[in-house]
Amino acid sequence: MVYMQKHPTVMCKELVDKLKKEKILKKEEYLYLIQNRKYVEEYLFKVARSVADSIYGKQIYIRGLIEFSNICKNNCYYCGIRNGNKNLDRYRLTKEDILKCADEGYSLGFRTFVLQSGEDMFFSDEVLEEIISKIKEKHPDCALTLSIGERDFKSYERLRKAGADRYLLRHETASKSHYEKLHPENMSFDNRIKCLKNLKSLGYQVGAGFMVGSPYQTEENLAEELIFLKKLNPQMVGIGPFIPHKDTPFKNEKQGEVDITLVMLSLIRLTLPNVLLPATTALGTIDNLGREKGILAGANVLMPNLSPVSVRKKYMLYDNKICTGDEAASCIECLKQRINKIGYDIVISRGDYKGGKEND
Ligand code: 5AD
Ligand code: FES
Repeated sequence: MVYMQKHPTVMCKELVDKLKKEKILKKEEYLYLIQNRKYVEEYLFKVARSVADSIYGKQIYIRGLIEFSNICKNNCYYCGIRNGNKNLDRYRLTKEDILKCADEGYSLGFRTFVLQSGEDMFFSDEVLEEIISKIKEKHPDCALTLSIGERDFKSYERLRKAGADRYLLRHETASKSHYEKLHPENMSFDNRIKCLKNLKSLGYQVGAGFMVGSPYQTEENLAEELIFLKKLNPQMVGIGPFIPHKDTPFKNEKQGEVDITLVMLSLIRLTLPNVLLPATTALGTIDNLGREKGILAGANVLMPNLSPVSVRKKYMLYDNKICTGDEAASCIECLKQRINKIGYDIVISRGDYKGGKEND
């Protein structure tokens, strides 16, 4: 008897259909899809987009990003604002500056703010509590997200009580050995994961995430990301391509690729159908139409910058970051047009997660 093997296109389509139905695949099945992505990309994007449409419609949520300090005690090998980068002008916004950014964002239509910074110990629990409660007091209809790195349980608890609703902390990679190749010895994978668990237990809506194409990442690592995310079950997943920064140890490493990033966005959408999934600035940086392509592959969130233009260029996590010269208002206008062109609308809302407590 002649042994007939199925063509990869057929195999891949069957796996995409299975993933849509069962919302999980085995690690080898994810790996097969990632390795054979060329055969199935268009179909995969279409299915993932239709799942996003069925939950979030033609609406794209926006979150206003306020990068309030680029001072960081950490030394991650990939990151442009790492402590070891002595070529960088460091800044710290005042409480008044931060409130002004939020006010401006509010009048531009934002109903959710992401306060992001390096791990800057100046921002103690007391200082942050004041900022958080002030923003919430002025804008009670807004959701407040923090993205300020690893802190202890007590600190997360205080900030939650002060009014923070959500927290973004990318795990960066689901593999401990890979994590150790991206970070110096004083940083620990186990602590990172513990932080995510602590945040969840405190009732934050949590965003995890990783870079695609970071140095030493394998396709097997990418398959493991999907298994990890399914277990963690976060409300949000931020992924973007790794982009080398000239003043880091990874300056000569290869940049992540658009197509694998899009494939990962789609696989995440199908694995966690309700998840909030940004088309990131990093994706828009390596491809002029990256964010549009991200949305068409299943993303449903954009995170434009609300930081004062005077500090934008100082928050360079990677080289050539886009939108660092544009006033928030013109950036929003630009985004609206781009998004309308592909048949979607930016909405004024808190952009709440639609998965309820558990993401089935
Ligand atoms: N390329 C792409 N993303 C990066 N980040 C940090 N440095 C880089 C880089 N060189 C991402 C990390 C971090 C987030 C704020 O930015 O994933 O969690
Ligand atoms: Fe920022 Fe176009 S999205 S200028």
